[in-house]
Amino acid sequence: MRWPADAPAFLLGVATSGHQVDGDCPPTHSDWTDWEDAGRTRERSGAAARHWQHFPDDLARFRQLGANAYRFSLEWSRLEPDPGRYDEAAVAHYREMVAACRQHGLEPLVTVSHFTLPPWLRGGWLSPAAVPRFAALASHMARALDSVRLWCTINEPNVLALMGYVEGQWPPGQHRPASAMRVLSAQLRAHRAAYRAMKQENPALWVGIAHSLVHFRPLRPTPGDRAAAWAADRLFNAWPIAHAGPQDFLGVNYYAPRWVSPATLMHPALAGSSPGPTTDMGWSVDPEGFTAILVRLGHRQKPLLVTENGIATDDEAQRAAYIHDHRAALERAQAAGADVRGYFYWSGLDNFEWAEGYRPHFGLIAVDRDTQARTVKAGAAAFTAWADAIRPGAPPPPPR
Ligand code: FCB
Repeated sequence: MRWPADAPAFLLGVATSGHQVDGDCPPTHSDWTDWEDAGRTRERSGAAARHWQHFPDDLARFRQLGANAYRFSLEWSRLEPDPGRYDEAAVAHYREMVAACRQHGLEPLVTVSHFTLPPWLRGGWLSPAAVPRFAALASHMARALDSVRLWCTINEPNVLALMGYVEGQWPPGQHRPASAMRVLSAQLRAHRAAYRAMKQENPALWVGIAHSLVHFRPLRPTPGDRAAAWAADRLFNAWPIAHAGPQDFLGVNYYAPRWVSPATLMHPALAGSSPGPTTDMGWSVDPEGFTAILVRLGHRQKPLLVTENGIATDDEAQRAAYIHDHRAALERAQAAGADVRGYFYWSGLDNFEWAEGYRPHFGLIAVDRDTQARTVKAGAAAFTAWADAIRPGAPPPPPR
C-alpha cells in the first residue's frame, strides 16, 4: 500500500469520539444514552462539548495548536436511526466535517464505531444483524465521505468486550467472560466484513483497527509473575491483532502499563497494582512501555499509527511532560525500526469519559461545561513544540 501522496508524511493530530464530545445525544438514543438514563455513569453526557455545532471553530483551534490531522468517529445511531435507513442530514453533517478538515489542513482519520451502538441492534455485537449492518454502514460512509483515505473500522474491540462483558461497567453490564470472547470475535468479523466492503468502494483506502494495547509488567521478578504478564499480553494485546484479518496499518491506543501476577490475573479486569505516581485515571506513566510496544509491533512489518495517547490531569506541567516523554519514546521506537506514521493525542477537547463522566480532563483544550467556552491549556505547548519540529522545512532535531 502506498501512503496517500499528498497526506503529511507524519500525521500529528488530536482525537475525539462522537458520543464523548458531540452532545445532545440523538433522539434515537444509543446503548450509551440508555445506560446513562439507567444511572450507570457518574453523570450524563448531556451537552458534552457541543462539538456537533462547534466543530468548525474546534477544528480551527486544533490547527492553531499545530495539528495536521484529526481523528473523529461517526455515531451509528444518528446515521442509521432504523435498520437500513440512513439519515441524510447526519451523512451531510459528516461531509461538512470532512470539508472543514480539508479547509484547515487536517487529514481526517474516521472511526466508524467508537463503542456506542444503535438501540435497535438488540444484543449489540452478538446480534446476527451486527456484522452485515456494520459492513453496510462502513461502505455507505466510505462512499459518502469519498475524500477520506484513512479509516479505523472499530475502536478497541478488546476494551468493549472487557468493560461490557467482564467488568460490567459499560453496557450491557455483564460478567460473562465467555460472552466477552464471543463479542470480541464478532467485532473482528465485523472488521473483516467492513474492510472488504470498503476496499470494494476504493482499494486505495487505508483501513485498520484502533487496538488498545497495555504494557503488562510482572509485579515481582518471579517466574509466576512473568508467566502472568505473558498470558495477559497474549490474550489482551496479541490475540485481537492476530485474529483481526487484513489491516493496512495497526492502530495503537496506548496509555499505561499494568503490573500483574497470577493472583491479579484471576481478577476479571486483568488489573494489577500501579506503584508510583498515577494520573487522574489512576494509571501509571510509562513511556518505556510505549517504546516497547511500538518496537514489538514494528516487527510485523506494517505501518503503525498511534491512534490515541494522552493523560488525564489538571497539572499542566504533568501533561506537557507526558507528551514530551511519549514523543521521545515514539522517536526511540522509530530509531529502532518501527514504521510509525502518526500520533494522535487523546484528546483535543475535555470530554465525557464514559463511566467516569466529566471528572478526568484529557483535553489540550478545556471546555467550560456551563458556557461551552474553550481555553487552550498550558500543557498543549508540548504538542505545539512537536508540531513545529515536524513542519516541512523545520530544522532537523538536535542529536540526542
Ligand atoms: C480509550 C478510549 C477513549 C477514551 C480513552 C481515555 O480507551 O478509546 O474513548 O476514553 O481511552
